Amino acid sequence: MAHNKTCLVTGAAGFIGSHLCYRLLSEGCRVIGVDCFTDYYDRSIKEKNIENLLQNPSFRLLREDVTGIEQSGLEGEGIQWIFHQAAQAGVRASWGRDFEHYTHHNVLGTQRLLEWARKIEPERFIYASSSSVYGNTGKLPMHEDDLPRPLSPYGVTKLAAEHLCNLYHQNFGLPAVSLRYFTVFGPGQRPDMAFHRFIKAVLAGNELTIYGTGEQTRDFTYVSDIIEANLSAAKTEGIEGRVYNLGGGSRISVNGVLEILGRISGQKVKVKHEPIQAGDPPHTYADTERARSELGYSPGLSVEQGLELMMESFS
Ligand code: UGA
Repeated sequence: MAHNKTCLVTGAAGFIGSHLCYRLLSEGCRVIGVDCFTDYYDRSIKEKNIENLLQNPSFRLLREDVTGIEQSGLEGEGIQWIFHQAAQAGVRASWGRDFEHYTHHNVLGTQRLLEWARKIEPERFIYASSSSVYGNTGKLPMHEDDLPRPLSPYGVTKLAAEHLCNLYHQNFGLPAVSLRYFTVFGPGQRPDMAFHRFIKAVLAGNELTIYGTGEQTRDFTYVSDIIEANLSAAKTEGIEGRVYNLGGGSRISVNGVLEILGRISGQKVKVKHEPIQAGDPPHTYADTERARSELGYSPGLSVEQGLELMMESFS
């Protein structure tokens, strides 16, 4: 069913944000994107992500930092759905001096957006949270009610922002919903992430880097499953204040991923090992029961199918 909502998507030029904008437009929505094009990775990748969006008359882009949302002049736009995808991403890069980027974009950015959202009173505010809020739980699968204990500074900021969403819901009735994404992949994946780096190396015949033994496991989630869950979280009634895990439905080791990659590329995968990176949890695995029963979530693509689609997008 088509929805003619007016939507605000922060991080619109990023990997997940841009996929979401295309999908919302296909639903008949009007979309206002906000993105400040940080230089965490090559900005030209973000420009490419939004190339076709900019051709669509129902899409508009503000090249601004979310912390400046007060000055955006968007109050009168009749925004109904807010999808807050903007963040300083990257688990392993969040140590040291760079932490200030994480607090600025992830914590302060979210707080400013929530304050502003209180005034414009959207029908739904969706926050892109992360599996990194869990840390090393020692218990799998990870359940929304487990005590979150992040292992990285990045995870701390994503959890802080999730708490902020929750308290704006509790104190001011803001209809916020948090979606905890588990390692998202697919065409357009960020260049610092494993699958992107692995495919690029294999296609170039280069060595790729494995952190640690490669026996760490992840619940990898295909991007279109994340996008559909965002739409459900916007449309489903009575879920304000809820938190949902979004995983792919299974977990696989990094070594297992490389085995698949070798098979589908027909190439010999050359690897070198580097020490395990601080902040990297040994395992992630989502309990998706709540999302399945309340959002109708049903992840559709296996890692193998998703990797094939990603490989095609590189050619
Ligand atoms: C990803 C995203 O980068 C985060 O922004 C997000 O918040 C997080 O998922 C999440 O689930 O919330 P990560 O799981 O580290 O973080 O994603 P990848 O970069 O795809 O790494 C997956 C695994 O591959 C990790 O164990 C990592 O150590 C390993 N890896 C990564 C390598 O062995 N070599 C590499 O070159 C890159």
